[in-house]
Amino acid sequence: MGTRTDLRHLVLHFTKGSDWAAGSVPIYVRGEGNYLWDDAGNKYLDGLAGLFVVQIGHGRTDFGKAAAKQMEQLAYTPSWGATHPSSLEAAKLIADLAPGDLDAVFFVTSGSEAVESAIKFARQYHTSQGNPGKTKVISRNLAYHGTTMGALSATGLDDIRTQFQPLLPGFIKVPNTLGATDGIAAAAAVEQAILDAGPETVGLLMAEPVQNGGGAIAPPPGYWQELRRICDKYNVLLHSDEVINAFGRLGEWFGADYVDVVPDMISFAKGATSGYVPIGGLIIRRPLVDNLMNCEGGTFTHGATWGGHPVSMVTAIANITAMRDEGVLENVRANTAGFRDRLDKLTEAHDVVAEVRGAGYFYAVDLCVSRERGIDLTAEQAAEYVGQVLPKAISEAGLLIRADKRGRPKLMLSPILTAGPAELDELMEKLSRVLDSMASRLAT
Ligand SMILES: Cc1ncc(COP(=O)(O)O)c(C=O)c1O
Repeated sequence: MGTRTDLRHLVLHFTKGSDWAAGSVPIYVRGEGNYLWDDAGNKYLDGLAGLFVVQIGHGRTDFGKAAAKQMEQLAYTPSWGATHPSSLEAAKLIADLAPGDLDAVFFVTSGSEAVESAIKFARQYHTSQGNPGKTKVISRNLAYHGTTMGALSATGLDDIRTQFQPLLPGFIKVPNTLGATDGIAAAAAVEQAILDAGPETVGLLMAEPVQNGGGAIAPPPGYWQELRRICDKYNVLLHSDEVINAFGRLGEWFGADYVDVVPDMISFAKGATSGYVPIGGLIIRRPLVDNLMNCEGGTFTHGATWGGHPVSMVTAIANITAMRDEGVLENVRANTAGFRDRLDKLTEAHDVVAEVRGAGYFYAVDLCVSRERGIDLTAEQAAEYVGQVLPKAISEAGLLIRADKRGRPKLMLSPILTAGPAELDELMEKLSRVLDSMASRLAT
């Protein structure tokens, strides 16, 4: 078993070298249901579903059995020029759940790859239809779409982009919907961006139904309907990036269902296997796939060795089937109002909460010095609290959630989708402790 000294051999993702050199990162060794345990035996309530991933909970043994059976029967076959029964079954299962005529699934192994696939599909699609100039991509400020160079170019977070300039050309940013109340007015920025760039140069609009970066930003009514109208008008593909939103996070199979729009493409990843193995994918509208395939060459010229891996496919089937048969989405819907209610009470009780925002089992708790006195944290305070004070308080409370300073400093909540009233109460009790310790430190 690895020990803390072995951390020197491991390069952690988005983690300060000093934290990892100090051995102060948690090493989780076991998970069961809504809980995790670290190597010192401490128990944590998982209020982030790992990283917006573990929809159905930790520690199921049935998925492992299905995966082992698949490995014994057929460990691997590629997804180009061939396939296998689990890939066919997983694609049908996902296509049947997807909205409208989105019924073709292209499998990869991560969210970034799914986003990259959407960017490349849009490029090739427009070229195949005689519009090779439609290469530009519109996405929104503060949105996170992944780390590969295409996905990062679409990402609207300067702190993870600046080190990698120059990024790809032709990626345009528009405002997100934070604070917007009129969907049509908020979408006008997108239409204006298309007109400014020249409609003949814009091929793709990428957005999350409820945006993670900036803190669980739900759209105002009518926003997505207006995006659909604009995309239809200017022949721009509408890509709903649902790497977090899909598979129950908002109480629906897809974020597109939550906003009640049929996009042209949906990217998914995390929740499709509840994190038991990696997966990613792009669901595409049938006519788009047919149009591309019916052109000369008739191929989506993109792929990867691990796309449609048999173990990912069989695990996705096991997870989605279990989510359906065990009423996981119904659980989220039954508890959504109660979750919101608890968060509103938490806000009332804590002056350091500026605002709570979100939908389903996906919320942001914006933090400040004092809501009543209208005082925000300074940039230095935000860095100190998000970087050190809050992670320590969260860990001491026996909680796994994320402190985030993109936009206003905040705590991101994404409970496991099987959490019921007892787990939500426990989450609030632990959150209260975190907020109390923040308030007492601010007071000193
Ligand atoms: C909306 C969205 N798109 C893309 C990604 C990238 O996914 P991955 O980390 O699997 O590459 C993420 C990751 O959190 C995401 O939230």
